[in-house]
Amino acid sequence: MQTMRDFHYGSIHHRDNFWREQARRIHWETPFERVLDDSNLPFARWFPGGRTNLCYNAVDRWLETRADERALVWVSTEVDQTREFTVRQLYDEVNAVAAVLRETGVEQGDRVLIYMPMVPEAVFTMLACARLGAIHSVVFGGFASVNLAQRIDDAAPKVIVSADAGSRGGKVVAYKPLLDRALTLARHPPTRTLILDRGLAPMQTDPARDIDYAEARARHAGAEVPVVWMESTAPSYILYTSGTTGTPKGVQRDIGGYAVALASSMAYIFDGKPGETFFCTSDIGWVVGHSYIVYGPLIGGQTTVLYEGTPVRPDGAILWRLIEQYKVNTLFSAPTAIRVLKKQDPALLKQHDLTSLRAIYLAGEPLDEPTAQWVADSLGKPVIDNYWQTESGWPILAAQPGVERVPTKFGSPSFPVYGFDVRIVDEATGEDMGPDEKGVVAIVPPLPPGAMTTIWGNDARFVETYFTSVPNRQVYSTFDWGRRDADGYYFILGRTDDVINVAGHRLGTREIEESISSHAGVAECAVVGVADAIKGQTAVAFVVLKSAQVGEPGPAADALRREMLAVVDDQLGAIARPSALRFVQALPKTRSGKVLRRAIVAICEGRETGDLTTIEDPSTLDQIKDSLQ
Ligand code: PRX
Repeated sequence: MQTMRDFHYGSIHHRDNFWREQARRIHWETPFERVLDDSNLPFARWFPGGRTNLCYNAVDRWLETRADERALVWVSTEVDQTREFTVRQLYDEVNAVAAVLRETGVEQGDRVLIYMPMVPEAVFTMLACARLGAIHSVVFGGFASVNLAQRIDDAAPKVIVSADAGSRGGKVVAYKPLLDRALTLARHPPTRTLILDRGLAPMQTDPARDIDYAEARARHAGAEVPVVWMESTAPSYILYTSGTTGTPKGVQRDIGGYAVALASSMAYIFDGKPGETFFCTSDIGWVVGHSYIVYGPLIGGQTTVLYEGTPVRPDGAILWRLIEQYKVNTLFSAPTAIRVLKKQDPALLKQHDLTSLRAIYLAGEPLDEPTAQWVADSLGKPVIDNYWQTESGWPILAAQPGVERVPTKFGSPSFPVYGFDVRIVDEATGEDMGPDEKGVVAIVPPLPPGAMTTIWGNDARFVETYFTSVPNRQVYSTFDWGRRDADGYYFILGRTDDVINVAGHRLGTREIEESISSHAGVAECAVVGVADAIKGQTAVAFVVLKSAQVGEPGPAADALRREMLAVVDDQLGAIARPSALRFVQALPKTRSGKVLRRAIVAICEGRETGDLTTIEDPSTLDQIKDSLQ
């Protein structure tokens, strides 16, 4: 039995052999010429010359052995519906949508934007794009018109696929009006949209633009659309994510490297086999949904459970009930979901047979020790904290029980995953830090298969954003602080930039600030992430008004506050709405004009502000304090 250390070492120091071996896990229509082209780092081209297809590997490849087995189970506690699809049925659905997309003119390399709730049609559409060699760009359903318009303009999709509405916590959330609005805001909107009418919300349709999903699917039922064999390094999808600026970055991913990385992760990280059942509670709009609702489990020959609903409706046992019912082997969720469940009646946990469940994987935000301990104790199952990013596409740090079983430590996502040459570096010198020293979590290029290959349409920004922030060497910065202990376990200690994490959702404070600032009454504002017992962090906004009087407490101030929050709801979506918005006369800044965010956060969290020798006006800190009263 090999050790994790040897396995990781092999992946870095005998890279070609290692990944050539892993590449056998997927189907290659044309063998690759080389494992890696690293002639132009930090750009890495994995398996160049090889031709493959994500849809083929996720669906067609399993027709021979699993045609009548379940591939996808959709459960919606929002609309009380369940639908199951065998591999054969999934194949049929994907082909029908592929035929529809082709009819609307979608070809290899074209972009298709998907703005949909958690319905099977969203998965069919993603796979249909992959089949055609088209590039999907899924936009999280919780985002609103301005976000959507920004992504439409950046990706320039030929078609948008959307729905009348989704539902959250029993409340209908209309999508179509937001889409219509985004289309009026976008500079170059596509001329065709494919709309799934779930009958949840009345909608206006434009017959010249909107195609009815059900009607088009029926017309193409039984269609077989040939797989387009794609160059391994061609883009599979774009997924936008927030950073320090107000403009989201289109994380671009390849095809062959991604398929190989996910296939390997199903074995080594998730310790799974074909025929098992995988339940990931994320959303298809996030990277976890792309990798572990859609592509990973299906490429690994597993049944994937797609769930539309919350963990507490109809009651706090719903996840456990689904695990029992579908004999789920692997659960993948976020710490926030567990913190919410922790508050439920503990008896709910005891009523279900969870013997099928092997382990619970949690990612997306820091997993606090009490929560980790609670799941481990109450479920009696291993909890595997794994750390990664939209950019990495799959775990960077994780226990890898399929390689070797090593004890985990609470609060640590364990060790670097094979392929990731992870370092903790000094932000001032770029040098590697020693055990227990805090530094920036960085990755020495090349990034492994499955990681982002560039920023869509902007190679220079890719290099500039990720590979220049650490001095004296070219390494990828995760923009997270971390440390490694003497036993080699890693710990993540928060972001180095202004990205915040609300209930596992990554949000850029800059985007929220720009949105609030678009209100005519705002002179300037700062949005920070403040610790929250359930959501990990919440956004709190401090606003300086153009006219001082309106900030005085009273009905006028309350009305103004509501107006500003409504702007955020309207532009970015309710998930970006600050939990509090407070008026101050001035923001604490350094003499050179930089807002002292860390000091603001410290005050909000009731901590000491630390060294503030560079502050321009110390009284601004008192204002922050007073505003919290
Ligand atoms: O700050 C880290 C945090 O989430 C960020 C990435 O978010 P996103 O791009 O949405 O990708 C999520 C993929 C799981 C990271 O930079 N983060 C993610 N996982 C963990 C984490 N922080 C602590 N522990 C984790 N396990």
